[in-house]
Amino acid sequence: MSNTAEIKVDGKSFELPVVEGTENEKAIDISSLRGSSGVITIDPGFKNTGSTTSAITFLDGEKGILRYRGYSIEDLAEKSTFLEVAYLLIYGELPDTETYNKFVSDITNHTLVHEDVKKILEGFPSTAHPMGVLSSLVCAQTAFYPASLDPNRAATEVDMSIIRLIAKMPTFAAWSYKNQIGHPVNYPDNKLDYCGNFLKMMFANPAEAYEVDPVVANALDKLLILHADHEQNCSTSTVRIVGSSHASLYASISGGINALWGPLHGGANQAVIEMLENIRKDGGDTKKWMAKAKDKNDPFRLMGFGHRVYKNFDPRAKIIKKAADDVLEKLGVQDPVLDIAKGLEEEALNDQYFVDRKLYPNVDFYSGIIYRALGIPTDMFTVMFAMGRLPGWIAQWKEMRENKEPIGRPRQVYTGANLRPYVSLSER
Ligand code: CMC
Repeated sequence: MSNTAEIKVDGKSFELPVVEGTENEKAIDISSLRGSSGVITIDPGFKNTGSTTSAITFLDGEKGILRYRGYSIEDLAEKSTFLEVAYLLIYGELPDTETYNKFVSDITNHTLVHEDVKKILEGFPSTAHPMGVLSSLVCAQTAFYPASLDPNRAATEVDMSIIRLIAKMPTFAAWSYKNQIGHPVNYPDNKLDYCGNFLKMMFANPAEAYEVDPVVANALDKLLILHADHEQNCSTSTVRIVGSSHASLYASISGGINALWGPLHGGANQAVIEMLENIRKDGGDTKKWMAKAKDKNDPFRLMGFGHRVYKNFDPRAKIIKKAADDVLEKLGVQDPVLDIAKGLEEEALNDQYFVDRKLYPNVDFYSGIIYRALGIPTDMFTVMFAMGRLPGWIAQWKEMRENKEPIGRPRQVYTGANLRPYVSLSER
């Protein structure tokens, strides 16, 4: 196949290079198009547009493949740990024992946050959604570590910001919940591992002893691995574009947290449980809700269904569905919405509307059911997603800066009014 493409504009031909990735994905490189032809391309929602080349995550939506740095998500979810996966994503290779131990120990040693973070936290009313609190606390790190604002720092200093952010994220996440329920915050416990420490900060209260349940900690670790990266999605693209202005790591990740919050992206996990609860309260008639989802005059969508990239199945959803069954059985939890979810899935998979549009359950469809079984409150679900996605965002930010990518600045086709004379206020 030719490694160039030809485009004709007003009868004139322009040749453009075709780039090919290591998994044979092909793309027409249009970076010279405007210079040579005067036209730009337009692609709302970037449905056909690659924003970058990247060596971090490979995803084949047709075949349902997801790999981090070449390792299959199935292997990693079964055999690895979240911090090992974090190292892999950020630094490109699985760590050897010495490197892994140092990485874990560095993270463990930076879990404590500046005491003034509590004052910021106390400024939020208890009605604050934990995602807003999380993004604010992450961005506030720029105030405690002002050197992080320097875009030209040495790699070792950037590494320190990375360690600090991974270490403190569970602290911010758990504290955002404690603020909401009016409980005192728990300080980190460095005797515990990453997930155990988070669970203790989240659930321990000063009046009672707290023991980390290994079933809960292991399930959480697996969920974090499944969420750790997903190439150029909405929040990751946000992180890269904010960082492309040379904004700090903390500011860029804070932007990513906000992008994740929306119900079409990470906020879908909260929306799924709310939807399933509504269906249950309404009598559990899944057919009625399926009809609503298909009705173009009804804004209702089947949350947790559909994906921009996956058109066959979402491999993360497969693993999570099985994990949901395992976790509920191990914890002895019976959740009536699990049956509603399974019923909806079965109906959707056999429904022509969903089949025609290749709409399958995505990662968010079953994750909320596990979070609920682990005792995580509904509006903390997206915070859990953010904790998992953090290493991916960091890896993508780092790659973008190391590749010296230019500032992200799309163009547009203007469709507004042409030049018109200004009419003074009294004459309008
Ligand atoms: N329920 C009913 N219809 C749907 C759904 C749904 N969940 N998702 C897509 N459709 C229909 C849509 O109406 C359109 O129909 P038509 O061609 O007749 O106009 C068609 O399917 C294509 O949908 P689209 O909105 O053009 O597709 P998109 O790629 O722009 O959107 C999506 C992808 C994930 C935003 C969308 O499927 C959706 O809103 N799903 C529900 C929210 C959700 O679960 N989000 C989590 C995504 S996975 C976690 C993450 O990584 O963010």
